[in-house]
Amino acid sequence: MSGFLKSSVGQKFLMSITGLFLIVFLLVHLTANLFLLAGSDMFNIVSHFMGTNPVIQIMQPILAIGFIVHMIYAVILTIQNQKARPKGYNKFEQGHSSSWASRNMFVLGTLVAIFLVVHLINIFWKMKFTGDPLLAEITVDGEKMENAYALVAGLFTDAKLGLVYSLFYILGAIFLGLHLHHAFWSAFQTIGWSNQVWRKRLEVLGDIYAIVIAGGFTIIPLYFLIFK
Ligand code: HEM
Repeated sequence: MSGFLKSSVGQKFLMSITGLFLIVFLLVHLTANLFLLAGSDMFNIVSHFMGTNPVIQIMQPILAIGFIVHMIYAVILTIQNQKARPKGYNKFEQGHSSSWASRNMFVLGTLVAIFLVVHLINIFWKMKFTGDPLLAEITVDGEKMENAYALVAGLFTDAKLGLVYSLFYILGAIFLGLHLHHAFWSAFQTIGWSNQVWRKRLEVLGDIYAIVIAGGFTIIPLYFLIFK
């Protein structure tokens, strides 16, 4: 087993499995966050459910491990690929057979990781550990909960930094979409769930998925910029 995980095939397999797990997470995360558009009560109820449901609590450390494993193996495989490149290799010659996104997966992944760190500090950390005046407890339908809506809305509508944060989140969504454009079908290919017929279908499905995720995460800051 440890021999398999040391081989580049095994490492690519781990990246793909964790990638597919993150793909599912993103869909759940986007769905929960789109409730922001339905108003504060609706979002706070959903956020309270996500923050207290035991299954979600068990999934959180597994999600963190998924992100970390995915990033560690991305670094290892990128270094190995760089070393294995023939001398005199011209990166422009490759352009015919591969997309820009596929040749820049590491850069795109790094930009998404930078986005993620800022995002976790802005929101997750405050909700889980430090608290924030904006999170002051409210009562919705007779139940006490944190005002998660006020924290997120406060970020995008802040008088000084609201525009900067909104643009940062939109850029993060675009980088994520480009990363997923290649990652989706590639993950299925690596774990062996693809063939000549399915490769094309998975590419189309992957593009639809990438557009939904990037578009969905872009709509949220845009909504606050335009309507709030
Ligand atoms: C408009 C965009 C987004 C909004 C409004 C948003 C909102 C939130 C909120 C409210 C939480 C805290 C949930 C809780 O602890 O109960 C959270 C956590 C988190 N977000 Fe986001 N998010 C956005 C985009 C993203 C993107 C693009 C990613 C991935 C690249 C991401 C990854 C995470 C992760 C890993 C957590 C911690 C795990 C969790 O609590 O579910 N988020 N986000």
